[in-house]
Amino acid sequence: MLVLGVESSCDETGLALYDTELGLLSHALHSQVDMHAEYGGVVPELASRDHIRWVLPLTEHVLKQAGKTLQDIAAIAYTQGPGLSGALLVGTSFAESLAFSLQIPTINVHHLEGHLLAPLLEDNPPAFPFVALLVSGGHSQLMRVDGIGQYELLGDTLDDAAGEAFDKTAKLLGLGYPGGPALAKLATNGKPHFKLPRPLLHSGDLNFSFSGLKTSVLTLTNQHQPLDEITRADIAWEFQEAVTEVLSNKCMAALRETGLDNLIVSGGVGANSRLREKLNAATNCKLCKVSYPRLEFCTDNGAMIAFAGAMRLKASHDKRKKDYSFSVKPRWDLAELQQP
Ligand code: KG4
Ligand code: ZN
Repeated sequence: MLVLGVESSCDETGLALYDTELGLLSHALHSQVDMHAEYGGVVPELASRDHIRWVLPLTEHVLKQAGKTLQDIAAIAYTQGPGLSGALLVGTSFAESLAFSLQIPTINVHHLEGHLLAPLLEDNPPAFPFVALLVSGGHSQLMRVDGIGQYELLGDTLDDAAGEAFDKTAKLLGLGYPGGPALAKLATNGKPHFKLPRPLLHSGDLNFSFSGLKTSVLTLTNQHQPLDEITRADIAWEFQEAVTEVLSNKCMAALRETGLDNLIVSGGVGANSRLREKLNAATNCKLCKVSYPRLEFCTDNGAMIAFAGAMRLKASHDKRKKDYSFSVKPRWDLAELQQP
């Protein structure tokens, strides 16, 4: 069964075709990063307009790439939320209208469920249950995952998300948007010179807090004005060490607490190579396994939405209603999700 996936929750238009028998057939992405860069962050109205520009050409592209036609599509999965309402509306209205014209079912997907399941797109995926670390621009959560729609929150951020902390710290260091990859790149030239706190490292629970770290970086940058290249790199290095140490330690604590031996990592910060190094070493030590999405599927993409939709379609035994009325959910708690 062929599922078209549509992602338009923020600043990336992603389309993909996933076949429930054959796996991922094609995917295409248009990133708006260059467009928003001059404003230092995402401009919602520009994002919506750009999604409108790309959603159709990318659909044609993934169909052509896979050698399929519109008539081959059995269902359309799309991101209904959370995200920017205007941006979500583009993908949602496109998906529902196309499905209406083809008289096929739609599957409204939670963006974070897409991220969460993305590692399962790879070879040798872990079986349920497992622990998931979801670290994106808006979320830093540890979850116990027992199946599709069975997500138990183990730990959450009390303030900034990990990606948000990367972005804000990158700004303090004079780096552009998006800050995470730029900061990680700068950190490769850094050395251990400064010491930043490891927030909540020994809190005894699985929660995170990253906003204090950003304030400590602000203090450091104020003390070392004007910032030279070496100081900036050393601060970036230490900041990345602090965040990845906390994330990695809490993941291991979550595995210990749940008694599980499989960890998956997803979301934009999951692309961070220092985090991967630490998690690989720590899980190896404890004879646990860690799985990641390929780098391009850590950040927003259509493949994870097509896949999550296909999993839900399969689990619901294809009993999907064809309603075609729609709304978006800019705010949508993952805990509200139910089993298919
Ligand atoms: O999952 P994602 O694409 O979007 C959300 O749904 O939020 O994550 C984007 C976040 C941004 O904060 C970005 O700076 C961060 O992921 N990010 C990184 C890296 N690549 C992306 N953070 C640290 N290291 C990276 N290599
Ligand atoms: Zn995302």
